[in-house]
Amino acid sequence: MTTSTIQSLMKQMTLNEKIAQLLQLAGPFFKGSTEQGHITGPMAAMPISVENIEHAGSVLGVSGAAEVISIQKKHLENNRLGIPLLFMADIIHGYKTIFPVPLAIACSWDTELAQKSAEIAAKEAAVSGVHVTFAPMVDLVRDPRWGRVMESTGEDPYLNQVFAKAFVNGFQGQDLSNDLQSVAACVKHFAAYGAAEAGRDYNTVDLSERQLRESYLPAYKAALDEGCEMVMTAFNTVDGIPATGNEKLMRSLLREEWGFDGVLISDWGAVKELIPHGVAEDDKEAALKAIKAGVDIEMMTACYVQHLAELVTEGAIEESIIDESVLRILTLKEKLGLFEQPYRGADVELEQQVVSHPDHLQVSRELATKSCVLLKNDNHILPLTSNKNIALIGPFADSGDILGPWSALGVREEAVTLKQAFEKHLPTNQLNVATGCHVETITQQQLEEAVQAASNADVIVVAVGEDSEMSGEAGCRTNIQLPAPQLELLKALATCGKPIITLLFNGRPLDLHGVIEYSDAVLEAWYPGSEGGNALLDLLYGVTIPSGKLTMSFPDNVGQVPVYYNHFNTGRPQGAPDAQERYVSQYLDAPNDPLFPFGFGLSYTQFSYSDLELTSTQLTKDSEITATASVSNIGHFTGEEIVQFYIQDVVGEVVRPLKELKGYQSIILEPGETQQVTFTITEDQLRYHHADLSFKSDNGSFVLYVGTNSKDVLSHSFQLISQGRN
Ligand code: GLC
Repeated sequence: MTTSTIQSLMKQMTLNEKIAQLLQLAGPFFKGSTEQGHITGPMAAMPISVENIEHAGSVLGVSGAAEVISIQKKHLENNRLGIPLLFMADIIHGYKTIFPVPLAIACSWDTELAQKSAEIAAKEAAVSGVHVTFAPMVDLVRDPRWGRVMESTGEDPYLNQVFAKAFVNGFQGQDLSNDLQSVAACVKHFAAYGAAEAGRDYNTVDLSERQLRESYLPAYKAALDEGCEMVMTAFNTVDGIPATGNEKLMRSLLREEWGFDGVLISDWGAVKELIPHGVAEDDKEAALKAIKAGVDIEMMTACYVQHLAELVTEGAIEESIIDESVLRILTLKEKLGLFEQPYRGADVELEQQVVSHPDHLQVSRELATKSCVLLKNDNHILPLTSNKNIALIGPFADSGDILGPWSALGVREEAVTLKQAFEKHLPTNQLNVATGCHVETITQQQLEEAVQAASNADVIVVAVGEDSEMSGEAGCRTNIQLPAPQLELLKALATCGKPIITLLFNGRPLDLHGVIEYSDAVLEAWYPGSEGGNALLDLLYGVTIPSGKLTMSFPDNVGQVPVYYNHFNTGRPQGAPDAQERYVSQYLDAPNDPLFPFGFGLSYTQFSYSDLELTSTQLTKDSEITATASVSNIGHFTGEEIVQFYIQDVVGEVVRPLKELKGYQSIILEPGETQQVTFTITEDQLRYHHADLSFKSDNGSFVLYVGTNSKDVLSHSFQLISQGRN
């Protein structure tokens, strides 16, 4: 179907039929759904007519080949012009094969594997009838109090961009129209949802346009530059106007400046939320503001179907503004081939073979091992040897709650737990398991059983963390420590005089006081997904060596938040910690530095950096500088090291971050091996948004940093000069 045939189809549509295309409803509204009629909660109050449903444009949150086929079939029987439904769902880090949460995937720094995980997620979702996934979420985050940091790839604009591209390519593949194993991607939440004040979900975001463009927008743009088909609006305000009704953000920037002509969908209820935000009197004004902002699909509220026709009749809007949205929605349906193949990739038989395929689980296991971050390993307690007697203790010792939030069709009971993985690795007489406590409660009996289990062990493996309801959407915490009962358990086990290896299952950077001091080793496992137990055993016994690096700083304590590596110097930077200065930018009761900085992650081996050299110390707009450094494996294990390259613009027209990640390289070194790593510096990497928002570089001094994290680095200065100057 071509654009002209779409337009001729539109000519046959009534205004109400066109407006209904802008409506997205959950499965229970539709005939053919196994949940038909089970309309509960806020949905039950929605003033939706049968005609609205019969001409609705898309379905939210339904998957399963049989279910999708059933709904689509019924819909086509009742839709006058036979316009198929779009099926959209949250496939964030896997469909049924669940991968580590995105913040964990980011810590692998492995965009190829990240892309592979999205490809597999798309394959499982597409065969189950899904057409669009509401991913990738690319919101830059600097506040671990916010529950949705687990869904992001962290605090760095560069890294968020490379992962945005990887996820879009993974979900959409290279030929969305013909590749029935792909799904359309929807980048979210536009824009700057991760900057919610105080880390409280849905809260106000108030950033300068310069900061928005410099740090928060690049990842959305990267996704769109990769061909991402859809954008989802954010719940929050941007410069005082809710994103969902923000014409400057949506029409001027997203559509006109960036040229995005795909489908823009509201987040759940975000059109109607313009009323509590205080920029709309009622549903009618909410509909007016959202349609004028260019929001094509209203998710799960009925402002459009209730009032757009009236607004056209009153002359408040032209019918053409509705036609624009309808054309974009029908064009997406056409691009997905739904007019010819309304069931697209849905296949009941094939679904049984594809979903949870062992090959998919193997990729999840590999990605989980690369996503874990080794934070401490005193006395090389890790890797373990198989002759050790293990006490496995903690609420996550045998928990399937390792899939994390947004785990789609993932089944906790099918996840490989730590206990199950240990039982496959050790004889029963070498493994003693005790819960020790629940996530947020502890009993004396549990404590005694744990200490008893520890007494017969050579090594204690403690599995602690947050349950998955403690992060994710609306999962915000002001206290980012482990729950007190778990700290109590750890403290009690520390009196047993045995080495303690602590495994963390959590969706955010935590304040690790009360953990780090009682542990000989700490491994951040995040929510590692379907194969979590197996991946952790691979790491604990050295089958795989940890290589993950943090993409979000771990604060010393929540009072530091927001704390992030690419910060400004201020006019009174803190000097040497022992300088005893008072009138500088510091705290009286805590350090300035996070406990673990961006880019931090240990290995079982050690790496040494040396000989950072540049081919020139002068760069022009047309030249490039090649930096080389030597990295040596000075330990006893083969290991993978993620070498990071940062640049500092020493003097700018506006203040500039002390470091900005500009690239990285992953290398594998045998014990004793040295490799040279190279990085090419070009002028475009030095550009930034000036006070007038122009994006350009300035001549002057720069510093290149190369290192194992954002703090432990070698450095070398260079200049950007005008062409032709000696
Ligand atoms: C939720 C989330 C959004 C998700 C949508 C559909 O409120 O904010 O990320 O895609 O609703 O479930």
